[in-house]
Amino acid sequence: MALPVLSLDQLRVEFKTPSGVVQAVRGVDLQVAPGEMVGIVGESGSGKSVTFLGMLGLLPSTARITGSARVGDTEMVGASTKVMRAVRGKRVAMIFQDPLSALNPVYRIGDQIIEMIQAHQDISKKAAMDRAVELLDTVGIPQPKTRARQYPHEFSGGMRQRVMIAMAIANDPDVLIADEPTTALDVTVQAQILEVINRIRAEMNTAVVMITHDLGVIARVADRVQVMYAGRVVERADVNALFAQPTHPYSQGLLHSIPRLGQSRLLPIPGSPPNMLRPPPGCGFSPRCVYAKPTCDQVIPELHPQGPSLSACIRSAEIELGVAQ
Ligand SMILES: Nc1ncnc2c1ncn2[C@@H]1O[C@H](COP(=O)(O)OP(=O)(O)OP(=O)(O)O)[C@@H](O)[C@H]1O
Ligand SMILES: [Mg+2]
Repeated sequence: MALPVLSLDQLRVEFKTPSGVVQAVRGVDLQVAPGEMVGIVGESGSGKSVTFLGMLGLLPSTARITGSARVGDTEMVGASTKVMRAVRGKRVAMIFQDPLSALNPVYRIGDQIIEMIQAHQDISKKAAMDRAVELLDTVGIPQPKTRARQYPHEFSGGMRQRVMIAMAIANDPDVLIADEPTTALDVTVQAQILEVINRIRAEMNTAVVMITHDLGVIARVADRVQVMYAGRVVERADVNALFAQPTHPYSQGLLHSIPRLGQSRLLPIPGSPPNMLRPPPGCGFSPRCVYAKPTCDQVIPELHPQGPSLSACIRSAEIELGVAQ
Protein backbone atom coordinates (compact mmCIF):
# COMPACT_ATOMS: atom_id res chain seq x y z
CA MET A 1 0.00 0.00 0.00
CA ALA A 2 1.19 3.55 -0.80
CA LEU A 3 2.09 5.70 2.21
CA PRO A 4 -1.20 6.57 3.94
CA VAL A 5 -2.42 10.17 3.75
CA LEU A 6 -4.57 9.59 6.79
CA SER A 7 -3.66 7.39 9.71
CA LEU A 8 -5.47 6.93 12.97
CA ASP A 9 -3.77 5.00 15.72
CA GLN A 10 -5.74 4.07 18.83
CA LEU A 11 -7.80 7.23 18.58
CA ARG A 12 -10.05 7.79 21.58
CA VAL A 13 -12.71 10.40 22.23
CA GLU A 14 -14.39 10.96 25.59
CA PHE A 15 -17.00 13.53 26.55
CA LYS A 16 -17.37 14.91 30.05
CA THR A 17 -21.08 15.12 30.82
CA PRO A 18 -23.08 15.77 34.03
CA SER A 19 -23.85 12.02 34.20
CA GLY A 20 -20.23 10.95 33.76
CA VAL A 21 -17.72 10.33 31.00
CA VAL A 22 -19.11 9.12 27.66
CA GLN A 23 -16.52 6.89 25.99
CA ALA A 24 -17.62 7.57 22.43
CA VAL A 25 -14.56 6.29 20.56
CA ARG A 26 -12.42 3.61 22.18
CA GLY A 27 -9.24 3.03 20.22
CA VAL A 28 -9.86 3.28 16.48
CA ASP A 29 -7.13 2.51 13.91
CA LEU A 30 -7.43 3.42 10.25
CA GLN A 31 -5.10 3.95 7.32
CA VAL A 32 -6.20 5.44 4.02
CA ALA A 33 -3.95 5.63 0.95
CA PRO A 34 -4.17 8.30 -1.79
CA GLY A 35 -7.05 7.59 -4.18
CA GLU A 36 -8.54 4.92 -1.94
CA MET A 37 -12.11 4.95 -0.66
CA VAL A 38 -12.69 3.43 2.75
CA GLY A 39 -16.22 3.00 4.07
CA ILE A 40 -17.00 3.43 7.76
CA VAL A 41 -20.22 1.72 8.65
CA GLY A 42 -22.13 1.11 11.86
CA GLU A 43 -25.36 1.83 13.68
CA SER A 44 -26.31 5.25 14.95
CA GLY A 45 -24.15 6.23 17.93
CA SER A 46 -21.28 3.85 17.10
CA GLY A 47 -18.80 6.75 16.96
CA LYS A 48 -18.44 7.24 13.21
CA SER A 49 -18.83 11.02 13.14
CA VAL A 50 -17.12 11.73 16.44
CA THR A 51 -13.97 9.91 15.27
CA PHE A 52 -13.46 12.36 12.41
CA LEU A 53 -14.84 15.48 14.05
CA GLY A 54 -12.44 14.78 16.91
CA MET A 55 -9.51 14.39 14.57
CA LEU A 56 -10.33 17.74 12.94
CA GLY A 57 -10.79 19.60 16.22
CA LEU A 58 -14.49 20.18 15.55
CA LEU A 59 -15.91 18.87 18.83
CA PRO A 60 -17.01 20.96 21.84
CA SER A 61 -14.52 21.62 24.62
CA THR A 62 -16.06 18.82 26.74
CA ALA A 63 -14.37 16.36 24.36
CA ARG A 64 -11.00 14.85 25.25
CA ILE A 65 -9.10 13.29 22.35
CA THR A 66 -6.14 10.95 22.79
CA GLY A 67 -4.13 8.57 20.64
CA SER A 68 -2.90 9.68 17.26
CA ALA A 69 -4.42 11.02 14.04
CA ARG A 70 -1.96 11.97 11.33
CA VAL A 71 -2.65 13.74 8.06
CA GLY A 72 0.47 13.03 6.03
CA ASP A 73 3.05 13.61 8.75
CA THR A 74 1.08 16.24 10.66
CA GLU A 75 -0.15 15.04 14.04
CA MET A 76 -3.64 16.39 14.73
CA VAL A 77 -4.14 15.18 18.30
CA GLY A 78 -3.00 18.01 20.53
CA ALA A 79 -2.20 20.26 17.54
CA SER A 80 -2.59 24.04 17.89
CA THR A 81 -5.64 25.83 16.50
CA LYS A 82 -3.34 27.28 13.84
CA VAL A 83 -2.26 23.84 12.62
CA MET A 84 -5.86 22.55 12.74
CA ARG A 85 -7.07 25.49 10.65
CA ALA A 86 -4.30 25.01 8.12
CA VAL A 87 -5.26 21.36 7.66
CA ARG A 88 -9.05 21.78 7.69
CA GLY A 89 -10.48 22.72 4.30
CA LYS A 90 -7.03 22.57 2.74
CA ARG A 91 -5.61 19.08 3.27
CA VAL A 92 -8.72 17.45 4.71
CA ALA A 93 -12.23 18.53 3.73
CA MET A 94 -15.50 17.27 5.12
CA ILE A 95 -18.96 16.96 3.54
CA PHE A 96 -22.01 16.59 5.77
CA GLN A 97 -25.49 15.16 5.41
CA ASP A 98 -27.31 18.46 5.51
CA PRO A 99 -25.91 20.94 2.98
CA LEU A 100 -28.47 23.62 3.83
CA SER A 101 -27.12 24.08 7.33
CA ALA A 102 -23.58 24.41 5.98
CA LEU A 103 -24.49 27.02 3.34
CA ASN A 104 -25.18 30.60 4.28
CA PRO A 105 -28.66 31.52 2.96
CA VAL A 106 -27.84 35.19 2.40
CA TYR A 107 -24.69 34.78 0.29
CA ARG A 108 -24.52 33.79 -3.35
CA ILE A 109 -23.24 30.27 -4.05
CA GLY A 110 -20.25 31.60 -6.00
CA ASP A 111 -19.21 33.96 -3.21
CA GLN A 112 -19.28 31.11 -0.68
CA ILE A 113 -16.97 29.04 -2.86
CA ILE A 114 -14.70 32.05 -3.40
CA GLU A 115 -14.46 32.53 0.35
CA MET A 116 -13.40 28.91 0.75
CA ILE A 117 -10.72 29.28 -1.94
CA GLN A 118 -9.38 32.58 -0.60
CA ALA A 119 -9.19 31.21 2.95
CA HIS A 120 -6.33 28.99 1.83
CA GLN A 121 -4.99 30.44 -1.43
CA ASP A 122 -3.56 33.85 -2.18
CA ILE A 123 -5.41 34.53 -5.43
CA SER A 124 -7.47 37.44 -6.80
CA LYS A 125 -11.26 37.53 -6.54
CA LYS A 126 -11.50 37.27 -10.34
CA ALA A 127 -9.30 34.16 -10.46
CA ALA A 128 -11.20 32.65 -7.51
CA MET A 129 -14.51 33.30 -9.31
CA ASP A 130 -13.24 31.57 -12.43
CA ARG A 131 -12.16 28.66 -10.27
CA ALA A 132 -15.56 28.59 -8.49
CA VAL A 133 -17.36 28.32 -11.84
CA GLU A 134 -14.96 25.59 -12.93
CA LEU A 135 -15.64 23.69 -9.69
CA LEU A 136 -19.41 23.95 -10.14
CA ASP A 137 -18.93 22.53 -13.62
CA THR A 138 -16.77 19.69 -12.22
CA VAL A 139 -19.51 18.62 -9.80
CA GLY A 140 -22.10 18.64 -12.58
CA ILE A 141 -24.00 21.91 -12.06
CA PRO A 142 -25.37 23.00 -15.45
CA GLN A 143 -24.85 26.65 -16.49
CA PRO A 144 -22.34 27.14 -13.71
CA LYS A 145 -21.73 30.83 -14.45
CA THR A 146 -25.39 31.72 -13.95
CA ARG A 147 -25.76 29.34 -11.02
CA ALA A 148 -22.79 30.88 -9.21
CA ARG A 149 -24.78 34.11 -8.92
CA GLN A 150 -27.76 32.42 -7.29
CA TYR A 151 -28.59 31.80 -3.63
CA PRO A 152 -28.84 28.41 -1.84
CA HIS A 153 -32.68 28.42 -1.83
CA GLU A 154 -32.61 28.42 -5.64
CA PHE A 155 -30.86 25.02 -5.62
CA SER A 156 -32.43 21.59 -5.08
CA GLY A 157 -31.16 19.32 -2.29
CA GLY A 158 -29.01 17.30 -4.68
CA MET A 159 -27.56 20.45 -6.23
CA ARG A 160 -26.73 21.89 -2.81
CA GLN A 161 -24.88 18.69 -2.01
CA ARG A 162 -22.94 19.13 -5.27
CA VAL A 163 -22.07 22.67 -4.11
CA MET A 164 -20.80 21.26 -0.81
CA ILE A 165 -18.59 18.87 -2.76
CA ALA A 166 -17.34 21.79 -4.91
CA MET A 167 -16.42 23.67 -1.72
CA ALA A 168 -14.79 20.60 -0.25
CA ILE A 169 -12.53 20.06 -3.26
CA ALA A 170 -11.85 23.78 -3.82
CA ASN A 171 -8.37 23.53 -2.34
CA ASP A 172 -7.56 20.12 -3.79
CA PRO A 173 -7.50 18.26 -0.45
CA ASP A 174 -5.60 15.01 0.07
CA VAL A 175 -8.51 13.56 2.06
CA LEU A 176 -12.25 13.97 1.69
CA ILE A 177 -14.41 12.85 4.59
CA ALA A 178 -18.02 12.39 3.54
CA ASP A 179 -20.34 11.96 6.54
CA GLU A 180 -23.65 10.47 5.33
CA PRO A 181 -23.51 12.69 2.22
CA THR A 182 -26.48 11.05 0.51
CA THR A 183 -28.76 10.03 3.38
CA ALA A 184 -31.20 12.91 2.86
CA LEU A 185 -31.46 12.39 -0.91
CA ASP A 186 -33.66 10.15 -3.02
CA VAL A 187 -32.02 7.10 -4.59
CA THR A 188 -31.49 8.59 -8.07
CA VAL A 189 -29.84 11.73 -6.74
CA GLN A 190 -27.91 9.60 -4.23
CA ALA A 191 -26.42 7.59 -7.10
CA GLN A 192 -25.44 10.78 -8.93
CA ILE A 193 -23.72 12.25 -5.89
CA LEU A 194 -21.79 9.02 -5.27
CA GLU A 195 -20.74 9.08 -8.91
CA VAL A 196 -19.40 12.64 -8.51
CA ILE A 197 -17.41 11.71 -5.39
CA ASN A 198 -16.08 8.59 -7.08
CA ARG A 199 -15.01 10.51 -10.18
CA ILE A 200 -13.20 13.14 -8.09
CA ARG A 201 -11.40 10.41 -6.18
CA ALA A 202 -10.23 8.85 -9.46
CA GLU A 203 -9.30 12.10 -11.23
CA MET A 204 -7.68 13.91 -8.30
CA ASN A 205 -6.36 10.84 -6.48
CA THR A 206 -8.17 12.04 -3.36
CA ALA A 207 -8.44 9.62 -0.45
CA VAL A 208 -12.09 9.33 0.59
CA VAL A 209 -13.60 8.25 3.90
CA MET A 210 -17.26 7.43 3.30
CA ILE A 211 -19.23 7.38 6.55
CA THR A 212 -22.63 5.76 6.29
CA HIS A 213 -25.06 3.37 7.93
CA ASP A 214 -26.07 2.24 4.44
CA LEU A 215 -24.25 -0.85 3.21
CA GLY A 216 -25.67 -0.23 -0.27
CA VAL A 217 -23.54 2.92 -0.49
CA ILE A 218 -20.49 0.97 0.64
CA ALA A 219 -21.09 -1.78 -1.92
CA ARG A 220 -21.35 0.79 -4.68
CA VAL A 221 -18.22 2.85 -4.09
CA ALA A 222 -15.86 1.71 -1.33
CA ASP A 223 -12.69 -0.37 -1.72
CA ARG A 224 -12.43 -1.34 1.93
CA VAL A 225 -14.69 -1.14 4.96
CA GLN A 226 -14.33 -0.70 8.68
CA VAL A 227 -17.36 -1.78 10.65
CA MET A 228 -17.77 0.12 13.92
CA TYR A 229 -19.69 -0.91 16.99
CA ALA A 230 -19.80 0.89 20.34
CA GLY A 231 -16.79 3.07 19.57
CA ARG A 232 -14.56 0.28 18.27
CA VAL A 233 -13.72 -1.33 14.94
CA VAL A 234 -15.17 -4.85 14.92
CA GLU A 235 -14.27 -5.81 11.36
CA ARG A 236 -11.93 -4.54 8.67
CA ALA A 237 -12.32 -6.05 5.22
CA ASP A 238 -12.19 -5.53 1.49
CA VAL A 239 -15.68 -4.78 0.25
CA ASN A 240 -16.01 -8.03 -1.66
CA ALA A 241 -14.85 -10.08 1.32
CA LEU A 242 -17.28 -8.33 3.65
CA PHE A 243 -20.26 -9.04 1.43
CA ALA A 244 -19.15 -12.60 0.60
CA GLN A 245 -18.27 -13.63 4.14
CA PRO A 246 -18.71 -11.20 7.02
CA THR A 247 -16.57 -12.45 9.92
CA HIS A 248 -18.12 -10.59 12.85
CA PRO A 249 -21.64 -11.40 14.08
CA TYR A 250 -22.44 -7.69 14.07
CA SER A 251 -21.42 -7.35 10.40
CA GLN A 252 -23.54 -10.40 9.66
CA GLY A 253 -26.46 -8.71 11.38
CA LEU A 254 -25.91 -5.53 9.36
CA LEU A 255 -25.86 -7.48 6.11
CA HIS A 256 -29.13 -9.15 7.02
CA SER A 257 -30.65 -5.75 7.66
CA ILE A 258 -30.21 -4.60 4.03
CA PRO A 259 -33.66 -4.24 2.48
CA ARG A 260 -34.30 -6.53 -0.45
CA LEU A 261 -36.61 -6.03 -3.39
CA GLY A 262 -40.19 -6.44 -2.26
CA GLN A 263 -39.26 -5.99 1.39
CA SER A 264 -40.23 -2.59 2.62
CA ARG A 265 -38.30 -2.16 5.78
CA LEU A 266 -34.91 -2.77 7.33
CA LEU A 267 -34.67 -5.82 9.54
CA PRO A 268 -33.33 -4.39 12.77
CA ILE A 269 -30.77 -6.29 14.81
CA PRO A 270 -32.60 -7.15 18.04
CA GLY A 271 -31.46 -5.30 21.16
CA SER A 272 -29.66 -2.00 21.46
CA PRO A 273 -26.05 -0.83 21.73
CA PRO A 274 -24.43 -0.41 25.17
CA ASN A 275 -24.56 2.76 27.19
CA MET A 276 -21.23 4.44 26.52
CA LEU A 277 -21.23 6.00 29.99
CA ARG A 278 -20.53 2.48 31.22
CA PRO A 279 -19.15 0.47 28.32
CA PRO A 280 -19.01 -3.25 29.03
CA PRO A 281 -15.67 -4.85 30.01
CA GLY A 282 -15.87 -7.34 27.13
CA CYS A 283 -17.34 -7.38 23.65
CA GLY A 284 -19.96 -4.62 23.36
CA PHE A 285 -22.05 -6.71 20.97
CA SER A 286 -22.26 -9.75 23.23
CA PRO A 287 -25.75 -9.04 24.73
CA ARG A 288 -27.18 -9.03 21.20
CA CYS A 289 -25.08 -11.85 19.80
CA VAL A 290 -26.42 -15.34 19.12
CA TYR A 291 -22.88 -16.76 19.45
CA ALA A 292 -22.01 -15.08 22.77
CA LYS A 293 -20.32 -17.15 25.46
CA PRO A 294 -19.40 -16.08 29.02
CA THR A 295 -15.77 -15.35 27.95
CA CYS A 296 -17.05 -12.76 25.47
CA ASP A 297 -18.02 -10.54 28.42
CA GLN A 298 -14.62 -10.66 30.07
CA VAL A 299 -12.09 -9.04 27.73
CA ILE A 300 -12.41 -6.64 24.83
CA PRO A 301 -11.56 -8.68 21.73
CA GLU A 302 -8.81 -7.27 19.49
CA LEU A 303 -8.85 -7.39 15.69
CA HIS A 304 -7.20 -10.56 14.39
CA PRO A 305 -6.92 -12.11 10.91
CA GLN A 306 -9.89 -14.19 9.86
CA GLY A 307 -9.66 -15.38 6.27
CA PRO A 308 -8.83 -12.30 4.19
CA SER A 309 -10.36 -9.94 6.79
CA LEU A 310 -9.71 -8.76 10.34
CA SER A 311 -12.32 -9.63 12.94
CA ALA A 312 -12.75 -8.62 16.57
CA CYS A 313 -14.82 -11.70 17.46
CA ILE A 314 -13.11 -14.40 19.52
CA ARG A 315 -15.36 -16.99 17.87
CA SER A 316 -14.80 -15.86 14.26
CA ALA A 317 -12.96 -19.07 13.27
CA GLU A 318 -15.72 -21.33 14.64
CA ILE A 319 -18.35 -19.15 13.02
CA GLU A 320 -16.58 -19.37 9.66
CA LEU A 321 -16.35 -23.14 9.93
CA GLY A 322 -20.02 -23.28 10.86
CA VAL A 323 -19.30 -25.03 14.16
CA ALA A 324 -20.16 -22.16 16.51
CA GLN A 325 -23.31 -22.66 18.54
N1 LIG B 1 -21.15 16.53 22.53
C1 LIG B 1 -21.35 15.29 22.99
N2 LIG B 1 -21.45 15.06 24.32
C2 LIG B 1 -21.64 13.81 24.80
N3 LIG B 1 -21.74 12.71 24.03
C3 LIG B 1 -21.67 12.88 22.70
C4 LIG B 1 -21.47 14.17 22.11
N4 LIG B 1 -21.42 14.02 20.76
C5 LIG B 1 -21.58 12.70 20.53
N5 LIG B 1 -21.73 12.01 21.68
C6 LIG B 1 -21.91 10.55 21.83
O1 LIG B 1 -20.87 9.91 21.13
C7 LIG B 1 -21.32 8.68 20.58
C8 LIG B 1 -20.95 8.59 19.13
O2 LIG B 1 -21.66 9.56 18.39
P1 LIG B 1 -21.51 9.74 16.83
O3 LIG B 1 -22.20 11.02 16.48
O4 LIG B 1 -20.10 9.60 16.42
O5 LIG B 1 -22.33 8.51 16.24
P2 LIG B 1 -22.50 8.07 14.73
O6 LIG B 1 -21.92 6.72 14.59
O7 LIG B 1 -21.97 9.13 13.83
O8 LIG B 1 -24.08 7.96 14.62
P3 LIG B 1 -25.09 8.45 13.47
O9 LIG B 1 -25.18 7.31 12.50
O10 LIG B 1 -26.38 8.66 14.20
O11 LIG B 1 -24.56 9.71 12.86
C9 LIG B 1 -22.82 8.62 20.85
O12 LIG B 1 -23.02 7.79 21.98
C10 LIG B 1 -23.18 10.05 21.16
O13 LIG B 1 -24.27 10.11 22.03
MG1 LIG C 1 -22.85 10.48 12.51
